[in-house]
Amino acid sequence: MSLYGKVALVTGAGRGIGRSLATALGESGVRVGCVARSQDELSRTVELVTSRGGSALAVPADLSDPHSVPDVVRRVTTQLGAPLILINNAATVEPLGAVGDLTPDAWNAAFRLNVITPAAFSAALLPGMTAAGWGRIVNVSSAVVARPETMIGGNAYAASKAALEAHTLNLAAELAGTGVTVSVYRPGSVDTAMQALIRRTGRGRLHAATYTRFVRSHEENKLISPDDSARSLMARLAGDATGQVWDVHDPC
Ligand SMILES: NC(=O)c1ccc[n+]([C@@H]2O[C@H](COP(=O)([O-])OP(=O)(O)OC[C@H]3O[C@@H](n4cnc5c(N)ncnc54)[C@H](OP(=O)(O)O)[C@@H]3O)[C@@H](O)[C@H]2O)c1
Repeated sequence: MSLYGKVALVTGAGRGIGRSLATALGESGVRVGCVARSQDELSRTVELVTSRGGSALAVPADLSDPHSVPDVVRRVTTQLGAPLILINNAATVEPLGAVGDLTPDAWNAAFRLNVITPAAFSAALLPGMTAAGWGRIVNVSSAVVARPETMIGGNAYAASKAALEAHTLNLAAELAGTGVTVSVYRPGSVDTAMQALIRRTGRGRLHAATYTRFVRSHEENKLISPDDSARSLMARLAGDATGQVWDVHDPC
């Protein structure tokens, strides 16, 4: 089945990888519900999608509270139709710091946005997907899960993305045979606001070697563009494979 004519819900679509995914989906004839907090950034994403002949809706919402999920789903479903494609892309890299400096509230905030809200979106959209006998859920993770020791000072981020991946693979097994696929996407090191935030605020919070690596990969032009990362996911999205951990650097 092609993606054409379907509805997608993309979280974190105001900038970065999410904006590029929304644009690429729009170009494939998918109507896209774009979720983030910043209305101005969402408006720019919608403009981009429509300027390329696609259709998109800005849905401003703060996803740090998973209770916001039903209202977001209602707004997208009412205006665009029931989403059969879900890209859980919004995330926070905070809190950065040594584990001894992290508060339980900061851990909670990271897990709410990075794990619980994605699971809540899947739960909300699954009845429509299973009834249609077709659905695509992608949870955007990070290569840090494969090597958590490489991001010292990013313990909550690494742990939350590992939890997201375990949730994803477990859900894929639960849904085997339903036509709904569930996979992880590791987008690579991408030139986005999240990387800029780490360079701007990570000194003294990340381990020195980890911080230097982030700064160097930017200085040495090793970051890939959000559009390139989005293309790699788009090449896999329509396929029937489920329970996959896709990395941008793996061959499609
Ligand atoms: N960039 C990288 O090198 C890299 C590497 C590995 C994995 N990733 C993953 O890729 C995904 C996208 O990252 P990115 O680099 O594109 O980040 P980004 O440029 O900072 O964009 C993040 C998006 O998420 C939204 N968002 C953040 N907090 C939110 C909240 N509480 N409620 C609703 N929306 C929220 C942001 O909009 P608002 O702030 O306006 O809400 C923005 O649209 C994330 O899952 C990240 O962990 C990125």
